[in-house]
Amino acid sequence: MTHPALIMTESSNALPPLGRIPPNVFCAADYEIMARRFIAPPSHAYIAGGCGRDGTLAANRQVFQYREILPRLLRDLSAGHTRLDLLGHRLPHPIMLAPVAYQQLVHPLAEIETARAAAATDTCMVLSTLSSRTLEEVAQHAGVDRWFQLYFQPTRNATVDLLQRAKSAGYRAIMVTLDTAIKAPSLGALQAGFTMPPDVTAVNLSAYPVPGAKILERGESRIFQGMMREAPSWDDLAWLLKQTNLPVIVKGVMHPADAQRFQAMGVAAQVVSNHGGRSLDGAPASLSVLPRIRAAVGPDYPLLFDSGIRSGSDIFKALASGADAVMIGRLQVYALAVAGALGVAHMLKLLREEFEVCMAQAGCATLSEIGPGMLFSENSEAGTC
Ligand SMILES: Cc1cc2nc3c(=O)[nH]c(=O)nc-3n(C[C@H](O)[C@H](O)[C@H](O)COP(=O)(O)O)c2cc1C
Repeated sequence: MTHPALIMTESSNALPPLGRIPPNVFCAADYEIMARRFIAPPSHAYIAGGCGRDGTLAANRQVFQYREILPRLLRDLSAGHTRLDLLGHRLPHPIMLAPVAYQQLVHPLAEIETARAAAATDTCMVLSTLSSRTLEEVAQHAGVDRWFQLYFQPTRNATVDLLQRAKSAGYRAIMVTLDTAIKAPSLGALQAGFTMPPDVTAVNLSAYPVPGAKILERGESRIFQGMMREAPSWDDLAWLLKQTNLPVIVKGVMHPADAQRFQAMGVAAQVVSNHGGRSLDGAPASLSVLPRIRAAVGPDYPLLFDSGIRSGSDIFKALASGADAVMIGRLQVYALAVAGALGVAHMLKLLREEFEVCMAQAGCATLSEIGPGMLFSENSEAGTC
């Protein structure tokens, strides 16, 4: 007999989420393949897509394939672990859930299920400003390690209100995303006919006034004087840092000079990220710029990384290239679509085990042993880790 969850719904042509872990998922990346059957094609195009002609999206994956790990032998790994200290808190592993908007696109309980998975696996979750469940509701299901991702709002009052709500709901840090002043579906999503369903909304923002569209004067640009007129500036970030005593992390850093300026102004940590290839098509892969940013901010400053991670060995390569921890974007949505909280928890468990296997095979007992010397280079003598 066909499992009820395997009967396609007519309306979306996509399978509803399973109530169990699927038997044929053997690695975290399998969720990416499987999710195609569980997400309506236009929404899938929106989630999987990048921007423009998807060049940066592709680069994010390609660069991982060209990085190679050079294993070391006969080391004692019997006291091995994956713990780290980040912003004053001890985390059991360096894998975090990236902020991903509008999760109701793939699951009716949306971010609530993701939060349950984060709590069950001791994973730090970063909730998007654009979540489809309120930050207060999600907080009730997430573990203690929860951070809030902030988009600057059109009015400072709304931005401050979000900060205060996040703090009251127990979020431990604020991650400000700076790389997407223009938020538009990708070319691929538009071609697939994607539009946001009317019942999927940014509920955190429902109480704030929406400024009317600017009427452009003749000669004004729809981009510069239109979409970009409310884009945040360095002054806005300096102002924001004074509005909260929570650690402020910036997300979307790709240039070493920007990284140094953020560090100098008191930003607590940074995420090297090109938004999973969804921001500037033509930007390099995030992994390509990571070593330069590590060199610019020094060895002790906290750096996170995302964009393109699909396996435990990708995590190892990101850490060896300079990251302290990584964030997982699309894989969490794919696992959520396939099997809700169970799927996300399973995906995280698989990723963590893949990472630990990679550490063990490479001969690294702790995260501090995963350095640039663990990466193979034709041009330099292999270092020690
Ligand atoms: C569907 C989707 C929605 C996203 N929404 C947000 C968001 O609301 N805020 C944010 O800072 N980043 C957002 N991101 C970017 C992710 O946080 C992360 O940078 C990216 O997904 C990492 O790449 P990966 O998907 O290859 O892991 C989104 C990404 C996707 C795919």
